[in-house]
Amino acid sequence: MARQPRFSLSRRAWLATLAGATALTKPVFGAIKPDITLRFSHVVAEETPKGLAARRFKELVEQRSGGRIGVQVFPNAQLYGDQDEIQALQLGAVDLVAPSLSKFGRIGLPEFELFDLPFLFDDLSAVRRITLGPLGLRLLSGLPRQGLVGLGFFDNGFKQMSANRPLLEPKDFAGLRMRVQASRVIAAQMRALGARPITLAFSDTRRALETGVVDGTENPISNFWTQAMHEVQSDLSLTDHGYLGYAVVTNQRLWQHLKAGDRELIQQALQQALTFANQIADTQNNQALQALRQAGTTRIHILNTGQRTRLREAVKPVQQQLASRIGASWINALQQALH
Ligand code: SIN
Repeated sequence: MARQPRFSLSRRAWLATLAGATALTKPVFGAIKPDITLRFSHVVAEETPKGLAARRFKELVEQRSGGRIGVQVFPNAQLYGDQDEIQALQLGAVDLVAPSLSKFGRIGLPEFELFDLPFLFDDLSAVRRITLGPLGLRLLSGLPRQGLVGLGFFDNGFKQMSANRPLLEPKDFAGLRMRVQASRVIAAQMRALGARPITLAFSDTRRALETGVVDGTENPISNFWTQAMHEVQSDLSLTDHGYLGYAVVTNQRLWQHLKAGDRELIQQALQQALTFANQIADTQNNQALQALRQAGTTRIHILNTGQRTRLREAVKPVQQQLASRIGASWINALQQALH
């Protein structure tokens, strides 16, 4: 008997199912009709580390399978925003998503929010010690509890703070409504700084900034730039206070139904695409910073050592406050891996 979905199928999910059905009959590699078409949905622009990784994955899979496996990429929350993309994956309305690690907490995996702890990582090599080490594997091994399979991690990079004023000292955050992802750790970070966290979908953020629903936000510069947030934020402060990365996940039933050889091909293509994304993420963020400077819309502030130290001190209590949500064993393992 067919398993009943745990959620009611939204109109968007239904439309996506139709989109997928159409995709199955549409040739994507020359004249060859693919046997399988994987629908990869994400919420950011194409010219971001995630957008480029998805595109590279598509090219590799289609080329290596000789067009037998197709990949359709739906960027910019065309199909789903980050409120519902994981649900769509669980329902089988899409086949791959790459949510930020901050978005797994609300599906019952709060341990992923450890990546959101402010000033946790000194650099991306520290991130790698987690994502490519035993802790990363342990995190991915929790996904089947939600009917998902985790295929790998990759970076966007470090987040910066924006608003219509410089954000250099904790006092600068007082009373600001800051858009955050649905992560309790990030919400606690904003509260520790004296701001009010407002959880919003990524695709609603620019408009919320424009209309004054929120005053500011945080994101790596590639997201800030490609969403044209610079048009509605006068100040960007280069705080590098937190990490934004992703996990690529698929539907467990789909994964189990694929032939072993196809799984292998997909997994290898994905690993290559993720390595590529990690190599270009820094460059993407630097290019976005240059473009931003040239646009001249937004003042860019570099923090001095004292300012950075005071921000770091202000958010220090967050780790303690959120330890029970993330789980003491995760925090201990994290500390061991980083020191
Ligand atoms: C993303 O990069 O996927 C979105 C991040 C956010 O929601 O801020």
